[in-house]
Amino acid sequence: MSIRYLENRRMWILETRRTAYVFAVNDNNRLQHVYWNNSLPYDSDYADPQTAMFWGGGVPEHPVMHPSSLQSVLNLEYPTHMDGLNYHEPCLKLCYHDGVRDCRPDYVGHTQQDDHLTVELSDEHYGLAISLHYRVIDDCDLIDRWVEIRNLSKHSIDLETVMSAALHMPRGRRYRMSHVTGRWVGEFQIRRDLLTEGKKVIESRRGFTSHESNPWCAIDACEATEESGEVWFAALHYSGNWRMTAELGNYNRMALYAGVHDFDFRRHLEPGDAFTTPAVSCGFTQYGFGQMSRNLHQYQLDHILPREHARTMRKILYNSWEATAFAINESDQMKLADRAASIGVEMFVVDDGWFGKRNGDNAGLGDWYVNREKFPNGLSPLIDHIHGLGMDFGLWVEPEMVNPDSDLYRMHPDWVYHFPNRQRTEARNQLVLNFCRNDVCEYIHSMLSQLLTDFNIDFIKWDFNRAISEPGYPACPIEHQREVWVRHVDGLYAVLDRLKAKFPRVLIETCASGGGRVDLGILKRTDQAWTSDNTDAFDRLKIQEGFSLAYCPKVMMAWVTDSPTGLNKRTLSLDYRFHSAMMGSLGIGGNLNHWSDLDMARAKHHITTYKSIRHIVQEGRLYRLLSPRDSNLAAVQYVTADKRESVIFAMLHSLENIDMLPVIHPRGLQDDQRYTIDHLGTFSGKSLMKQGIGVKLFGDFSSTLIHLKS
Ligand code: DGJ
Repeated sequence: MSIRYLENRRMWILETRRTAYVFAVNDNNRLQHVYWNNSLPYDSDYADPQTAMFWGGGVPEHPVMHPSSLQSVLNLEYPTHMDGLNYHEPCLKLCYHDGVRDCRPDYVGHTQQDDHLTVELSDEHYGLAISLHYRVIDDCDLIDRWVEIRNLSKHSIDLETVMSAALHMPRGRRYRMSHVTGRWVGEFQIRRDLLTEGKKVIESRRGFTSHESNPWCAIDACEATEESGEVWFAALHYSGNWRMTAELGNYNRMALYAGVHDFDFRRHLEPGDAFTTPAVSCGFTQYGFGQMSRNLHQYQLDHILPREHARTMRKILYNSWEATAFAINESDQMKLADRAASIGVEMFVVDDGWFGKRNGDNAGLGDWYVNREKFPNGLSPLIDHIHGLGMDFGLWVEPEMVNPDSDLYRMHPDWVYHFPNRQRTEARNQLVLNFCRNDVCEYIHSMLSQLLTDFNIDFIKWDFNRAISEPGYPACPIEHQREVWVRHVDGLYAVLDRLKAKFPRVLIETCASGGGRVDLGILKRTDQAWTSDNTDAFDRLKIQEGFSLAYCPKVMMAWVTDSPTGLNKRTLSLDYRFHSAMMGSLGIGGNLNHWSDLDMARAKHHITTYKSIRHIVQEGRLYRLLSPRDSNLAAVQYVTADKRESVIFAMLHSLENIDMLPVIHPRGLQDDQRYTIDHLGTFSGKSLMKQGIGVKLFGDFSSTLIHLKS
């Protein structure tokens, strides 16, 4: 890793293991992007901004160019609105106290500390300071970027758009954007769209990360595959409203802007105030989408996930939500716990329904005291029973929500987001607590602290089951009203940070009606994620594939549930359901009371197998060998860092016309290492990768697991 400043050229070269990110101060004292690709042998290889046009950095020496187009082809490092003739997307748009909306940030200096570079810009006349931050994550070939805006003037400043970064791709190629889209029970569906002139926007305006889209995307020059081709990508550390805009502009200028959504956003800075954007992790690889994912996965394991559990194995959990929903009580949960322990489950989670008057989704949220009808002696007897069985104990909460039918809401009707004169829109019979308020955050923090102190709890599942509506906070001054979207996330992160600091041992799972809140911001504060409420093992293949593009298998919770599946009534074998769920962190969500002795024995067998391979799945390098989107046979492989072990899951959709199935070619093995596969023999890594492995699968929805040991 290195950050070099070439003083005579006023140029910075940020190098990771394989890549270089280069920008410089141009003749107008603006920062201009120069280069982002594999690093080059000599510093002199990086062109000055004025001549960097071939790599997308500077002004093209176009034979006939209208003078007003000149500026719109410049790749500015942090473009501001106007600043002359800037008509493409700005990273910063604001309004000064006198109505001036033209921001002109000059380069004024920089500081560097180890892997962290800060470049200072200033619009001096208006006392606006902009700090561009860059942190180089060498081993993952990533650069984290974020921005701090400070008001050093005597007047207020209104920020209208503040992106975390602009990313520039080389000019003049045809590009695609890869991203995920979806909905409840259908998250993380992969899309790959050609980018044509204009803009493609992916976003959330719902107050949370969302099921509809995820704050991550990749841009490639229409030629990348899983293992080859140049890919530029970005992942935001943010769980609120966000936007990523890909813009193909004049003269094939290609840029991506990422940050907090400016829809319904304002940040009012009084003198002395500051606003810091979330970080965005930016990466480049020439080894396709697979390497992109492996870099992001590594980054999560080494740098993002809370340190306490980042490198521990996720335990196999049982959760009775799909089996019993709200109908829970002490003795039934104890019986389920006995059954779960007997097959090797390591953590028992009590989901929704244990508190307040929670017999359905219409009451109780906010009243976080134990329901005495269901648990007459409190939770402790159940917790002790579960610990006695050698399992950890987990509990579900939804701290940001309240049902109107709750003591908390009756006491504090002003604690939810609302507008005067407008009906409070309920969804799932609930309203969202106003986490911009300190008193609300304090209350929730002390309630959770109390819960974790009173009971011997090892894990909490933090749910969020509706989007924010009527984003109003009437008691707040009008000029700060549109800050609620951002301040909600600030409040949430602060509560989570305090809890994690106080109870580092307690694991937290992020959940939002399934996979609605999965992003690098929440994963800094939680240890794992509920992937989707869709637990159908076949549907999960595509959901999990999309999830794996950006997020690592360790955080991807996958349960084995009953067949036919509750939601879509598909019938699948227990083996297939286990294999599908074993591709992430395994859980069981079926009604074990209904599982036959044969099922229980088979489940025990799979759980034992999973325990022997989970280090490969949860910490290994992931290779998407055959995609369920375009192959009848899907295959995913995991390889340990030392390449001594690997596991492959092969999942057949249906055997048609007694056809030959595709041969599976493993990747990432060591050429001269000898790997043994039970019942098949011993082969070198090179032989397996070159010749492949044939699988014998028949019928519909059949599957197998191949363990390669050296
Ligand atoms: C939505 C979650 O995704 C489910 O797993 C379950 O916890 C329910 N909420 C409980 O209300």
